[in-house]
Amino acid sequence: MDKIVSLAKRRGFVFQSSEIYGGLNGCWDYGPLGVEMLNNLKQAWWRSMTFRDDIEGIDASILMHPRVWEASGHVANFTDPMVDCKQCKARYRLDHLYEQLSPKNLSKLEEIVFSFLQTRFSDPVGFETFLAAYRKQRDDIQLMTVEGLLDEYRKLIKDAKFAKELLAGYFIDPNMADSILKLVNCPNCGNVGTFTEARQFNLMFKTFVGPVEDTNNVVYLRPETAQGIFVNFLNVQSASRQKLPFGIAQIGKAFRNEINTKNFLFRTREFEQMEMQYFVKPGEEDKFFEYWREERMKWFLDLGMKQENLQWHKHEKLAHYAKAAFDIEFKFPFGWGEIEGIHSRTDFDLGNHEKFSGKAMKYYDEQTKEKFVPYVIETSVGASRSFMAFLCASYDEEMVEGEMRTVLHFHPKLAPMKAAILPLVNRDGMDDIAHTMTKDLQKHFRVFYDDSGAIGRRYRRQDEIGTPYCFTVDSQTLQDQTVTVRERDSMKQERVAMSKVKEYLFERI
Ligand code: GAP
Repeated sequence: MDKIVSLAKRRGFVFQSSEIYGGLNGCWDYGPLGVEMLNNLKQAWWRSMTFRDDIEGIDASILMHPRVWEASGHVANFTDPMVDCKQCKARYRLDHLYEQLSPKNLSKLEEIVFSFLQTRFSDPVGFETFLAAYRKQRDDIQLMTVEGLLDEYRKLIKDAKFAKELLAGYFIDPNMADSILKLVNCPNCGNVGTFTEARQFNLMFKTFVGPVEDTNNVVYLRPETAQGIFVNFLNVQSASRQKLPFGIAQIGKAFRNEINTKNFLFRTREFEQMEMQYFVKPGEEDKFFEYWREERMKWFLDLGMKQENLQWHKHEKLAHYAKAAFDIEFKFPFGWGEIEGIHSRTDFDLGNHEKFSGKAMKYYDEQTKEKFVPYVIETSVGASRSFMAFLCASYDEEMVEGEMRTVLHFHPKLAPMKAAILPLVNRDGMDDIAHTMTKDLQKHFRVFYDDSGAIGRRYRRQDEIGTPYCFTVDSQTLQDQTVTVRERDSMKQERVAMSKVKEYLFERI
C-alpha cells in the first residue's frame, strides 16, 4: 500500500486534501491523472448501465428533504456503536477494538462469555432470547438445546468475526460487551479497560438550510445516492414512459462521518458512489438478482480485473428489509474488502416513502390493470473505492534487463493517458511531426507529448502511469511516414503508418 500511495501522490493521481494544513482525515483530492482515470471509470460504468433500453440516468441533489432519511431508516439506524477512552479521549468503533485483544485475553473472553451465558441460560426466557438472536444471525444452524447452543458458542468464539460481533454487542447483551471491554488496551495510550460505555453514533453529516441554525432547519449530506433515485421513481417512469422491469442509474458524492477512516481511499468521509436501482414486479426479484450479480462481476472482469482477485461474500446477517445481499470483494494489499454490494431490497424503500410522504409510489401495470409497489434490485459500487481497487490490481514491479520497472497495467479504457508521442530526437523535423500528431490525436484522446530524456526513460515514465501505447517518431518516419508503437505490457514494438494511428487507438480503446 505504501508504494501505491506514494506513486499516486508523486505522479498526480491522488493528494491528501488540504495537505499544506496537515490534511483533513478521510478526505482526498484527485490530481491531473487521478481525475482522468476516475472519469474513465465512471464513464465505463455509466455506459454499461445507460447504453441500453431499460435504464435511465439521473443526477439528484445532495441535500434532500430531511424526511427522506427518516423514511429510509438512516436517522434511526445508520449508527455505529462507539466508545471513548477516558484517559486520552480517543474514540473507537467498538468492533474495531477486537483487534486489541491479545491471545491471552481471548481465553478470558471465553470465560466471560460462558459465565454470562450460563447464568442467562438457566432462565428459560433468557435462553429463548439468545436462541432467537443466534438463529437470526446464523439461520443455517438449528439449535434446540442449551448444551447445543453452548457448544456452538464455544466453537464460534474462536472465530474472529464472531468475537468481533460479540464485542460490538450485535448478538448479545451490551453488558457483556462492557465486561469484554475491560480486557482491552486503548490503541492510543495503552491503558487497559479505560473505555466509556458504548453509545450509538449517527454517521450522517448534519447541516442547516437558511441562516437560522435551528432543529427545524436541519438537513443531511446524503450518505448514499440511492434515495435520490427512489424519490424520483415516478417522475422518471412517467417522463421516460418506461415499463417494468427498468432501472435508474446515478453517480454522485456521498458523505459518511466514518469513525475510523482507513486504508487510503477505502473508507473515507467523502466519496463517490455509482448506484443503480432496478425496479421489478414482485415475484421476479430472484431472477433479476442473479442477472445483476452476473453482470456486475463481468463488468470488473471486462475491465481487466483477474477472477482470483475477486470473490463473493454472502451476507448472513441481512438488514430487516433485505431479501438477499452479496458483496463483490477485491483482494487489497491489506486483505479482502467490499467494493460493491448487490442487494434485493423488496418494496421497503418505495413503500416507506409512500408512508412517510403520503404520496402513492405505485406502478400501474397496463396489461394486468394492477397497481403495486415494485420490488428493487440495487447495485451499489464505490467509484473511489473501485478506483483504488483498479490501482492496486494494476500495480506491478518487474525486472527488465537488470532494472526494476514499475508499471500500471490499466485496461486502455481506464488509463488516464491513452498514448504518448515521443520524437526520438529534437531535430530533423521529428519534433514538428510529433507535435502535429499530438494535436491531431488530442481531438479524440488524452495523449501526452514528451521529448525530454533518453527514450528508455521516457517509456518507463509512461509505464509508471499506465499509458498503454507509446508512438515514437524516428528517422524512418521521415522516409516512410511510419512510427514505432511500443505496447506497455509486452514491451513489443511494431511499425504502423502515421495515418493509421488514430484507428489503431480507437480499435484498442
Ligand atoms: N445504497 C447502498 C449502499 O450505500 P453500502 O454498502 O453502504 O451500500 C456501497 O455502500 C458501496 O459504497 C460500497 O461497496 C463501497 O464501495 C462504497 N462505500 C461505502 N462507504 C464508503 C466509504 N466510507 N468510503 C469509500 N467508499 C465507500
